[in-house]
Amino acid sequence: MADERRGEWGSRVGFILAAAGSAVGLGNVWKFPYITGENGGGLFVLIYLVCILAVGLPIMIAEVMLGRMSQRSPVSAFKQLAGDKSLWRGVGWIGVLAGFVILSYYSVVAGWALEYTVFSASGAIEGADPAALTQRFGQVAGNGSGAILWHVAFMAITIAIVIGGVQKGVEIAARVLMPLLLLMFIALLIFASQLEGFGEGASFVFGLHTDNFGPGSVLEALGHSFFTLSVGMGAMLTYGSYLKKDDDIVVASVAITVIDTLVALMACLVLFPITFTYGMEPAAGPSLVFQNIPIALAQLPGSTIWAVTFFLLLVFAALTSAISLLEVTASYFIDELGWSRSVAVPVTGGAIILLGIPSALAASSHTFGAGMEAAIGMNWFDLFDYVSSNWMLPLCGLGISLFAAWRVGEQARRVQFAAGSTLGKIEGLYVAWLQVLRFVVPIAIVLIMLHALKVFELLGLTGAT
Ligand code: PHE
Repeated sequence: MADERRGEWGSRVGFILAAAGSAVGLGNVWKFPYITGENGGGLFVLIYLVCILAVGLPIMIAEVMLGRMSQRSPVSAFKQLAGDKSLWRGVGWIGVLAGFVILSYYSVVAGWALEYTVFSASGAIEGADPAALTQRFGQVAGNGSGAILWHVAFMAITIAIVIGGVQKGVEIAARVLMPLLLLMFIALLIFASQLEGFGEGASFVFGLHTDNFGPGSVLEALGHSFFTLSVGMGAMLTYGSYLKKDDDIVVASVAITVIDTLVALMACLVLFPITFTYGMEPAAGPSLVFQNIPIALAQLPGSTIWAVTFFLLLVFAALTSAISLLEVTASYFIDELGWSRSVAVPVTGGAIILLGIPSALAASSHTFGAGMEAAIGMNWFDLFDYVSSNWMLPLCGLGISLFAAWRVGEQARRVQFAAGSTLGKIEGLYVAWLQVLRFVVPIAIVLIMLHALKVFELLGLTGAT
């Protein structure tokens, strides 16, 4: 039963573009390279790729499917499919909450990218030396009120777009920007391949080093596979709800996963050669992309144009992701509480702005939250990131996989998987997907969580890794 007020994607590739726009973002260009640096490189990359293929992709197919079946946003989707009072609604709630938390610090980082765009446009990068540019990040991130201002600016843009309704806007933006972003990365890759440190950078990303790889690394890789694919919070479910009955979910999910993974690997192959060529620290943390890119581009003729283009594309990539995060949180209030879009979006967006302030301050000052850092080794910014990507997304993802694999009727699931798809009609593929979703995904998520909680060590089953 189609709901007349719900939109549909304007074209067959519309969904792929919008969903890829949600998936490709700061997670690929900012977060993945820096956590790869912190976790020692290649082994982490390998585990991450396994998580993408064995956990992330199967869940994406399930999540998009639940969206199309229910034609709803996350919490109402579970109500619709499982009953009004069903406990499955909890899965949707975790997702909505994760959206709140993620967008609050995501927007702080996107704010840095905005500020860097303006900074680059001033021509300050042209010919600047590496030491000066490294210091620059300290100034940007170290200015608390500036960080809050740019965070508010970025959220204001996101709110304005989401109020207007996402489908058309996102589709058009993604259609132009995704190819541009890919082109930019190809150009940067050609540049990086000429650098002296390319070999060392590439072997850092693809060699199987074990240093700096700890018990938390596997959880981090798992959490990031959810984060980067935008699964485990209902974003893909919501976008899936705008699909037509005969759109091909399997091929779309594979395409989104491939694009997302390519961008992440390209970002590493650009950043680490720069890191090694200029004698920088691979484990620099959240500042990695903001220091490396200007340092490398400063050497090129026309560095201002290059840098402005790069950071502008990063802002747009962040924007198409932020839109999907806000859309999910706002649609909870629209669908569940009956608020109008023009009330729900500014109210939820405003709450997210407030929630982001501690992150903006924590990232910018050593004194704000110093006690917290001393006590748990994380400030607000780190804590929000850690809890949302490593725990909330996998938990909600676990719920989605259990629901799609065990609760949804066999007949309905089969029809969804096969609709409009040659690939989806292959019996072996369907069976493999279902078995992975039934057993591999839940067992992997639970084991990795227990491992991160050091439960096996406490039981004396393994030594420290
Ligand atoms: N996938 C986005 C990125 O990699 C972030 C995101 C997470 C967006 C969850 C929506 C939902 O930047």
